[in-house]
Amino acid sequence: MNKPIRKAVLPVAGLGTRFLPATKAVPKEMLTIVDRPIIQYVVDEARAGGIEHIVFVTGRNKQVIEDHFDIAYELEDTLRTRNKTAALELLEKHRPQPGSTSFTRQQAPLGLGHAIWCARDIIGDEPFAILLPDVIIKSQVSCLKQMVDLYEHTGGNIIAVEEVPEDQTHNYGIVELSDRIAANASRISNMVEKPAPGTAPSNLMITGRYILQPEIFDLLSSQDTGAGGEIQLTDSMLSMMKGQHFASLKFEGRSYDCGNKAGFLSANIAFGMDDPKLAEQLVPFMEEMIKQPLAAE
Ligand code: G1P
Repeated sequence: MNKPIRKAVLPVAGLGTRFLPATKAVPKEMLTIVDRPIIQYVVDEARAGGIEHIVFVTGRNKQVIEDHFDIAYELEDTLRTRNKTAALELLEKHRPQPGSTSFTRQQAPLGLGHAIWCARDIIGDEPFAILLPDVIIKSQVSCLKQMVDLYEHTGGNIIAVEEVPEDQTHNYGIVELSDRIAANASRISNMVEKPAPGTAPSNLMITGRYILQPEIFDLLSSQDTGAGGEIQLTDSMLSMMKGQHFASLKFEGRSYDCGNKAGFLSANIAFGMDDPKLAEQLVPFMEEMIKQPLAAE
């Protein structure tokens, strides 16, 4: 029987320089998609995947994330006095249970691998999930739940993957697959972080959702820097592949890379369209915008 996946690590220490000046005082994870901060989508996905405890790896200026997942006494008291039951219920629904979150700091921005390593004591000796909050996934079934379902059959390590255009592969971690093990899952035979243009082993990117065995922490602790001069999670996973098996899952759904502006805006439109009242207003607006010449023309 495979050990259950109870804990997830959400690395939220990134500076968000691509969204300055919006992210000068507000963490990028708190930017909103329709009416929820990005981080809320990721936490909801984790909880729908059965996660009981979330470890946030934060940095300086990220306190507001902690506040977001706490009780807002004054606000809630005012809502109660005004009988705003629906708003109160909404806040309660999204609030984690007491004691089901931990916050630890990555003191210096040394890379994703280092951020995950910072969670080692809180995770302990059990398999766990990682969800990168730059990426939000729109799907019928939570992407992490799809991964956990696969993990229950395969055990080991699982990485969510999806196709990217060839000219984008240098922006991501890329995997190479071997044998198929289920309809949408295969064994991973190789992976490389941010391959130079033209050298990627495939067009399958690592989407930012992982289930990993705790041995990854030993590898992370002794790791050199890789792509971009940072300690890369992909490099430690590649080392771990020598002794453990890794499977890929082509999940059902679509990811939005909210680490860049086009992905962030697309996510706002895609999730906005889910609300029929918003869709009614958005569709004519988008039709009007499409008819307009592009600014560069
Ligand atoms: C990270 C990972 C990369 C993955 C990407 C997904 O890169 O290192 O393997 O493909 O997230 O968004 P980053 O975006 O932090 O540079």
